[in-house]
Formats: sequence, C-alpha cells, structure tokens
Amino acid sequence: MVAVAVLALAPGGSAQLQYGFYKGKCNGTDVEAVVQGIVRAWFWRENPIVAYLLRMQFHECVINGCDGGLLIDGPGTEKTAPPNLSVKGYDVIAAIKTELERRCPGVVSCSDIQILATRDAVALGGGAAYSVRTGRRDRRRSTVSDVKLPAPEYTAAQTTAYYGRLGLSAFDTVLLLGAHTVGATHCSVIKPRLYSYGGRPGATDPGMDPSYAFVFKKYVCPNVPSSDNTIVFLDDQWSALKVDNQYYKNLQLRRGVLPCDQNLYNDGSTRWIVDLLANNSGLFTSLFPQALIKLSEVNVLTGTQGEIRKVCNKFN
Ligand code: HEM
Repeated sequence: MVAVAVLALAPGGSAQLQYGFYKGKCNGTDVEAVVQGIVRAWFWRENPIVAYLLRMQFHECVINGCDGGLLIDGPGTEKTAPPNLSVKGYDVIAAIKTELERRCPGVVSCSDIQILATRDAVALGGGAAYSVRTGRRDRRRSTVSDVKLPAPEYTAAQTTAYYGRLGLSAFDTVLLLGAHTVGATHCSVIKPRLYSYGGRPGATDPGMDPSYAFVFKKYVCPNVPSSDNTIVFLDDQWSALKVDNQYYKNLQLRRGVLPCDQNLYNDGSTRWIVDLLANNSGLFTSLFPQALIKLSEVNVLTGTQGEIRKVCNKFN
C-alpha cells in the first residue's frame, strides 16, 4: 500500500495532480477539448503563439511553481518584472478562461489553462502530442521581488544549477532550452556579444561563428541604437515557428543566438546532450514533452490550496 502511494507521487511531490482531473466536473463540457479548440483557432491567426506560450510556461513555473502568479495585473506583481514585460500570450489564456467560466464557473484554474494551452500549442507547432496531469490551483500571491530568472549571459554551469534547484537535471535543462527552437529576441539582447564581449569595447564573442557574427554586425544588428528593437529569430528563420531540433544543430555550428544557448555547446558537461539531440531528429520531439511536464509539476498547489480564480488577471 505504501509502495503504491509513493509511486503515485508526481516528480514535484504533487500527489493530487491527475490525468483527466476535469472529467465530469464541467457540466458535460470536455475542458481539454475547449482549450485545444481555442488554441488551434488562435494558432491559425497567430502562429507565434507557440513561442509566446512556451516562454510563458517557463516564466510562470520557475517562480513559485505553475500557479498563475505571472497572470496577475497590478503594481508590484510578477508581470511587472523587466524580463516579463515582453512575455506575450495573456490574451489567449484570458479567452480560454472566459469560455470555461461560461460553461462551468469556478472550476478550471488559470494555472492548468496555461499548461494545457502550451501543450496544445507545442503539438500545433510540429512537436509531439502529450498528456499532462491537471488539478493545479491558483496562488494568492504575485510579487515582483520573487522573480529571479536566469540571465541570457549564463554559463552552462549557471543554467544547469538554476534548473537543478527546481529538481531538473542537466538533460532536462538542455531539453528545455530547446524551446528556443521557436520565437525571437531583439538586437539589444545580443549586442553585448557582438560589440563588447566580456566588457571589452569592440570585442566579439570568439565562440560565435565569425561569418555569422559578420552578418549580424553588418546587416541585422548594426552598432547603432536604432537597431535595438530589431527582431532576431532564436532559430533559423525558416524554422522559427517549428518545434524541431534545428536549434541544436545551430549550436554545433556555433550559431546559437543567446550566449546561454551557445554556452550549452561550449561546455563539455552539456555538449554531449546537444550532440545527441542534434544528431537524432526524433529524440528531441519525443523527449521535449517530458521536460515540459517536469517543469509544469514543480511546486504546484493542489487540493484545497490557493483558489480557482474567476478571471486570470485578478485574485478573487
Ligand atoms: C537560461 C535560461 C533562459 C534564458 C536566459 C532565456 C532568455 C530568453 C531571452 C532573453 C529571450 C528573448 C526575450 C526578448 O528579447 O524579448 C527569450 C525568448 C524565448 N524564450 Fe527563453 N530563456 C531561457 C530558457 C527558456 C525556457 C526554459 C523556455 C521554455 C521552456 C524558453 C522559451 C523562450 C521562447 C519560446 C522565447 C521566444 C519568445 C517570443 O518569441 O515571444 N526560454 N528567452
């Protein structure tokens, strides 16, 4: 009996998350089908929703767990932390919540909506379809001072240590950063790599493929303030909407965009993982969901903890 109870524990110790938690709880509505329908409709209008939701899951779940804290509006909330100012996708979460509240008020948490919506977006972006456990509750706390996100300049050791504190392995970490297979950043984020590497004026990161650096400096992010907001895809442009392993192939070519990406290849302790994922195209697709699931179960509230919000951007 004890052994069964232990086996029933999710990695985060969240015994009460379960598959199909909402089955039979929403007046005959299939909650997961509603989420999927809205995400699919959104995706056809706005393909980058895959990137928006993946980044949202990351910024949400690493700060006090996946608890809807990032969704709260108002002064001093998580949303106001500088790295969160460019997080997008709040509108699709709000639209799903509105529809589910119409069908069964007070039943489906905002935190579960985030996880389900990201899951559906990943599959639409070419990733694998996967099942997630639900039953998360929304936390009555959202405080900017809690927000401690990794920096783009992190070394591989710093990045793996950051995720290690959440119970994720180095392998999980390299898989999670594979989310940079979709989406974009801005020149302002990578200009230090191009023009003042290591704090030395004029220095370019020697870990960057020189021809790649040349193109960036000449055409994409010239060293003028007006280029700061120029969009830079995190993966090759043709692949920037696709959940695939091209990101890892770019790291092998020293064409990672963010320093924290390239550093995964520069460090021997994570390079082998990059090589494995780059050289086996199906492997990333099949393992990426496992890392997202682990992230989605870190520190969650369940049972009678927290609340089920009426709207996602305000506490009840
Ligand atoms: C060391 C860890 C990480 C760092 C330092 C980092 C940093 C960043 C930065 C600086 C951007 C660009 C933001 C901008 O210019 O507006 C970005 C974008 C993005 N990040 Fe990460 N990230 C990390 C890990 C992750 C993880 C674990 C995920 C998801 C599982 C993720 C998903 C994304 C996505 C999808 C985008 C593109 C967003 C868009 O196009 O709107 N990142 N990240």
